[in-house]
Amino acid sequence: MTSIWTPASWRRKPIRQVPAYPDPARLKAFEDKIRAYPPLVFAGEARRLKAQLGAVQEGRAIVLQGGDCAESFAGFTANNIRDTFRVLLQMAVVLTYGAAVPVVKMGRMAGQYAKPRSSDMETIGDETLPSYRGDIVNGPEFTPEARIPDPARMETGYFQSAGTLNLLRAFASGGYADLHEVHRWNLGFVARSPLVERYRDLAQRIDETLAFMSACGMTSDTTREMRETDFYISHEALLLPYEQALTRIDSTTGDTYACSAHFLWIGDRTRQPDGAHVEFLRGVRNPIGLKVGPTMDPDELLRLIDILNPQDEPGRLTLISRMGADKVERSLPPLLRAVQRDGRKVVWLCDPMHGNTISAHAGVKTRSFDAILTEVRRFFDVHAAEGSWAGGVHVEMTGQEVTECIGGAHGLTMKDLGGRYETFCDPRLNAEQSLELAFLVAEELKARRHRPSPAVAAQ
Ligand code: PEP
Ligand code: CO
Repeated sequence: MTSIWTPASWRRKPIRQVPAYPDPARLKAFEDKIRAYPPLVFAGEARRLKAQLGAVQEGRAIVLQGGDCAESFAGFTANNIRDTFRVLLQMAVVLTYGAAVPVVKMGRMAGQYAKPRSSDMETIGDETLPSYRGDIVNGPEFTPEARIPDPARMETGYFQSAGTLNLLRAFASGGYADLHEVHRWNLGFVARSPLVERYRDLAQRIDETLAFMSACGMTSDTTREMRETDFYISHEALLLPYEQALTRIDSTTGDTYACSAHFLWIGDRTRQPDGAHVEFLRGVRNPIGLKVGPTMDPDELLRLIDILNPQDEPGRLTLISRMGADKVERSLPPLLRAVQRDGRKVVWLCDPMHGNTISAHAGVKTRSFDAILTEVRRFFDVHAAEGSWAGGVHVEMTGQEVTECIGGAHGLTMKDLGGRYETFCDPRLNAEQSLELAFLVAEELKARRHRPSPAVAAQ
């Protein structure tokens, strides 16, 4: 028997990754303040996203979800928001062409501020301080003052999310997302790439397609889809006092929605079936995600699906596989089969980042472009072999030319990491690496469309 859900019922459950706020009265004062603020998203938008994810689950669309590992308060600038949005759109265009289905676009943006940590404390030299848990909790500076969790940061997070979302909405519908413009940026990327010969063909085919469509009368003036796009925001629902303060009852349906973002996910460290994070997300009606790492076993996954999507609603639950390139072929098939045997309706995404983090030197984390691409390819192979739809990718990336992941066409090495290593948490693909990944995955998707999957061929 499951007990009654309320926006506060998570408070009776065991909780992990919780900040030690020194002053509970001050925490409550900020929760009360945010509870009175306007929601950031409207329930109807979350329902539209859920319907689009339902199409992904049925194999009629794919997802591109991407953005920073951790957004930062200091990085809240128009240029950062614009550049990440632009690269996501550029990636989406080539993926749309490669997969020949719509791409549902979600940013890890406008609220991706809270981070789970492997250790509660961090030691440098002979000083030990509480770990940095993301800008919505405490500060990254290694000083005792910065590391004290401060609930006023929830209010800053709220306003920065609102400002980011406002600009994203303006870009998505105000003309910035025009398909012709996005394609022109991609031509620029191809011209700059050392692999120009390899990418030119795909870019030219998109060029011809756009020319053909415009000859048929589908131009930016005549067709909304050519000049505007749907763009959704998402983040890990880790800081539950903040998430609870932004839950609202939708006046049109009477249902409860988390209104901090369209889509929220549960991290691999906080997915205990009887834990607080699962409890909170089971009761809101948004589309939600669940990170699935190599320690997940099939029975536990089915149990979590029962809790999080008891009505088997299409588009409600997205499983985000993050196994690592060397584990995905062994760890994913048993989970896929269990879900298929039970006939559960879920979307599967590949996060090729979190299972491929390595330590470069002196505690600096990096990821190799090759490992990331390999995990994506193997993820698609496993789905093809099992006759299941690979629903898309979830990546940590930025529109800036940072040097955090090694490899890619420009051949970044461990030595280059010092150049522009700016992440507040995990290493991200830079703009060029992100686009390269999209071109390579699009090539694969296109090739796969022209050969039947083994499972289909065997029928
Ligand atoms: C993340 O997405 O930044 C993250 C912490 O991932 P995971 O929960 O999969 O480790
Ligand atoms: Co991360």
